[in-house]
Amino acid sequence: MENPHDTIQLSCKGRCFDFPLVEGSEGEQAIDIKTLRARTGLITLDPGYANTGSCTSSITFMDGERGILRYRGIPIQELAQQASFKETAFLLIHGSLPTRDELTQFSEQLTDYSPVHENMRLFFQNFPPNAHPMGILSSMVNSLRSFYPEIANEDEEIKVTVTRLISKIRTLAAMSYKISMGYQVIYPRPDLSYCANFLHMMFDSTVRPYELKEEVVHALRVIWILHADHEQNCSTSAVRLVGSARVNLYAAISSGITALWGPLHGGANQAVIEMLEAIRKGGGDCRSFVERAKNPNDSFRLMGFGHRVYKTYDPRAVIMKEVCHKLLGALGRSDALLDIARELEATALEDEYFISRNLYPNIDFYTGIAFRAMGIPTNMFPVMFAIGRLPGWIAQWLESIRDPHWKLSRPRQIYTGPKETAYTPIDQRV
Ligand code: CMC
Repeated sequence: MENPHDTIQLSCKGRCFDFPLVEGSEGEQAIDIKTLRARTGLITLDPGYANTGSCTSSITFMDGERGILRYRGIPIQELAQQASFKETAFLLIHGSLPTRDELTQFSEQLTDYSPVHENMRLFFQNFPPNAHPMGILSSMVNSLRSFYPEIANEDEEIKVTVTRLISKIRTLAAMSYKISMGYQVIYPRPDLSYCANFLHMMFDSTVRPYELKEEVVHALRVIWILHADHEQNCSTSAVRLVGSARVNLYAAISSGITALWGPLHGGANQAVIEMLEAIRKGGGDCRSFVERAKNPNDSFRLMGFGHRVYKTYDPRAVIMKEVCHKLLGALGRSDALLDIARELEATALEDEYFISRNLYPNIDFYTGIAFRAMGIPTNMFPVMFAIGRLPGWIAQWLESIRDPHWKLSRPRQIYTGPKETAYTPIDQRV
């Protein structure tokens, strides 16, 4: 990775310092500044970390200029077409696709671990009726450690915790919906796939059995595969950062869920639908929303547009657009919001503001419409994202704790506050 002949020279206060240049397997280059502060007394300043590589990683490759996304080298297009979500999760976590035996074993473990401790229901019942499902999910995931204490053998602990979490997040998510609606909780069926089981747990009831439709299961599988990892995004960085303090996996994942909740990240799918609804209610005038998004004095942004890394069409959005279209067709449904989405996309893509800033639709632009068609309530959309992203968070956490150079994450700052100031007693303050 490091070529001793390639260095970058920094000239500072009349002295020159050489720093090694490191190169990744796809030719990406970085300056290794691990010794910067010790040698120069300087730190780097990079708010939002747009120019900072926080780690090396062999999990996901992303090229924002060319619109490429691969998990362990495999293009997402191939995974979306051929893999199951379980295989994708295994690939991310273990580094290679599972053999038939490994997949069978993984599937059996996911089924075995799917029920949650009965006492956890009491937690659910005590959340206020309008509590956001992301807040509930993050609390429930964090509380798993109390219900399933640590196993002494470290390897066994990791294996069990990882599988338990992938299995239980699905149960917890479906359960939160059922309890919020006052419905009976439904447990998974061992004969169903991971995605089909989630739909079954969400929508089946003793009064009205849920008919599983292949197209819906297919769409959910693709959505979860497309969400499964995205290298060092905000929530994954949260998982790594919190994990660096050596908290348990549940706590680290809970912080990832909380970060994902934000409308600039995983909460964008919910925000997109709310925006499209607002356009519809306002008579379908996309142009005025585009104008608002361009106005520097208006904090409104086109939700589902733009990405920190992609400076071309998000490759996940390309797949999602088609999946969404096919899903609506297969269900024989039309959705006025899809028409508005298409018009909004066309309007923005022709606009100089969006062209010059490389702002294209991202995955969230279309997932919300697909989730609506499946009958998922809007406030559950970020939860759907979280279930999909879980294997990536776990893989990244595992990679970080197994890194021989693992360090506590602790960025520095440039202080801009007052210089030393004497304490003023309260009766002398004005
Ligand atoms: N609508 C209007 N203007 C935008 C948008 C948008 N959605 N996104 C970026 N811009 C403008 C921004 O105002 C700035 O303009 P100027 O140069 O005149 O100041 C320029 O584009 C660069 O924006 P930035 O905020 O510096 O870019 P960023 O990399 O910090 O932001 C982003 C990335 C995703 C937070 C942002 O594009 C955004 O807020 N998008 C809407 C929310 C969204 O859809 N989020 C989901 C992201 S994909 C899912 C995931 O992986 O999390």
